Amino acid sequence: MNPPKTRGRPGMTSATRREFLKRVGDAGGFAAVFSTMHTLGLVSAPEAHAEEIKLPPHSGKGVKVVILGCGIAGLVSAYELGKAGYSCTVLEARGRPGGRNWTVRGGTKIEFIDGNVQTSEWGVENYLNAGPARLPSIHKTILGYCRELGVPLEVEVNTSRSTLLVTDKAFDGKPIEQRQAINDTRGHVSELLAKCINQHALDQDLSKEDHDRMLEFLRIYGDLKPDYSFQGSARSGAVHIGGAGPVVQELRPPLDMHALLDANFWRNVMFEEMLDMQATMFQPVGGMDRIPHAFAKKLGSVVKYKSPVAEIRKTSAGVRVVYMHGTAKKQIEADYCICALPISILQSIPNDFSPRIQAAIKNTTYMGAYKIGWESKRFWERDFNIYGGISYVMNAPVGVVWYPSARMMSENGVLVAGYSIEGFGPFSELTTVDAKLDASRAAVEKLHPGYGSKLTKPIYVNWGKIPYNLGAWVGPPHPGPNAFMDNSYYEGPYKEFCRPDDRIYFAGDHCSHLGAWQEGAALAALRTVNMIGDRVRTA
Ligand code: PHE
Repeated sequence: MNPPKTRGRPGMTSATRREFLKRVGDAGGFAAVFSTMHTLGLVSAPEAHAEEIKLPPHSGKGVKVVILGCGIAGLVSAYELGKAGYSCTVLEARGRPGGRNWTVRGGTKIEFIDGNVQTSEWGVENYLNAGPARLPSIHKTILGYCRELGVPLEVEVNTSRSTLLVTDKAFDGKPIEQRQAINDTRGHVSELLAKCINQHALDQDLSKEDHDRMLEFLRIYGDLKPDYSFQGSARSGAVHIGGAGPVVQELRPPLDMHALLDANFWRNVMFEEMLDMQATMFQPVGGMDRIPHAFAKKLGSVVKYKSPVAEIRKTSAGVRVVYMHGTAKKQIEADYCICALPISILQSIPNDFSPRIQAAIKNTTYMGAYKIGWESKRFWERDFNIYGGISYVMNAPVGVVWYPSARMMSENGVLVAGYSIEGFGPFSELTTVDAKLDASRAAVEKLHPGYGSKLTKPIYVNWGKIPYNLGAWVGPPHPGPNAFMDNSYYEGPYKEFCRPDDRIYFAGDHCSHLGAWQEGAALAALRTVNMIGDRVRTA
């Protein structure tokens, strides 16, 4: 193609970015929620380089650091400071490490702040990663810790061409396979573009040589016939595949382009192209919580469990943190504090923060993401050839069905039928847990008619109601379709949390441009630890 003539400078101008976000907001739905979140983090003040640990061994000798919260940020902080000789204490409210990195298994008790209690009765080998559930290969910091700590990883299959898409707006409300949506769309679009080229509509943009090369590209890209028509492709699947003897492969007729436009699956089929969602993705074998447990094992008695923070105070020479242990009120003094608690929790802890931090805390809200998991026979594998990946139901309260990557081909597994923002879209109108579970089962039934009844032992985790979290990640609690254009967190509170308040530092995914990712939490922890290291060195 000729070099672009009329384009502006490389990268998006803020006008095009706003326009882009507006279009995204207009589209709405699960994929819009997730695909914009990350973009927003990138929009403001990019500081796009990885944090490398700069703490010389023994450099922290005699320096005491109290770390609040034993999620990924707290764990990384304590682990790295410990390596450099600092003397650390981690205060953790719960009896386990990990924070939002939480794996629900057979026997796990889930208690909400409203009194709802569930106990999982799944087989011991079955689990739900209620919080983080996938590790992108570009998240080198957290993957590096898995390597360093010996946490075995396996592939997390984030997308599969065999997964399904369904909408009432097209295809008689029957599911189609992603391979059809993707490849038939490519075919139709390629045919249209080839037509434009052959009708000389693009002569201004294409040299003679590129004219021919574009046509050749489109023939391959869209699987077009020699006359550049699209008449279906084996890429989209077959009525039946070729077999022995006389059995020849019989292709499906291509889906109609108008129907594909009616269906509007675009955001869902493009999900796998988001930078964070691209293959290869990983998960720890046996559950995501293998990561915090590996850190915690290294830290040993550095972590004090069942020790919720009650007060955060400044002293003339450092910090004093009051915490509970059973009914006993205890306190600890230190030279520095790393506050790795969710901001939602900081909101109700008495403290000596400066006014700018108090305002930032007040102005930060959290989204309540939820997941619903069911134990079931693996009908999706046996009867639908689906091994991992995500199916989508359009315009339904529950729009996402995520198939397990663990223990494929075994008898049963945990199907995630529902993962989104609790306060978003039609799901937010369901007021009872039963109604939510019904919607979850209905999503599976819509995609896999006759199989909804196979689901057993539901578990519903709503992070907005989990004590010591009260939210999943920073964002508006009731996001409307345009809420994701709002960059106010990164323009406001974020900047405050990135700077220490006297001797109190902050860490967590909310202190990174990778919000809602363990990588962000780990990078924020490394940055904070380096800042403390610099200060100690120059003190
Ligand atoms: N990390 C979370 C996930 O894997 C939430 C998230 C989704 C964050 C999409 C950014 C983009 O689902």
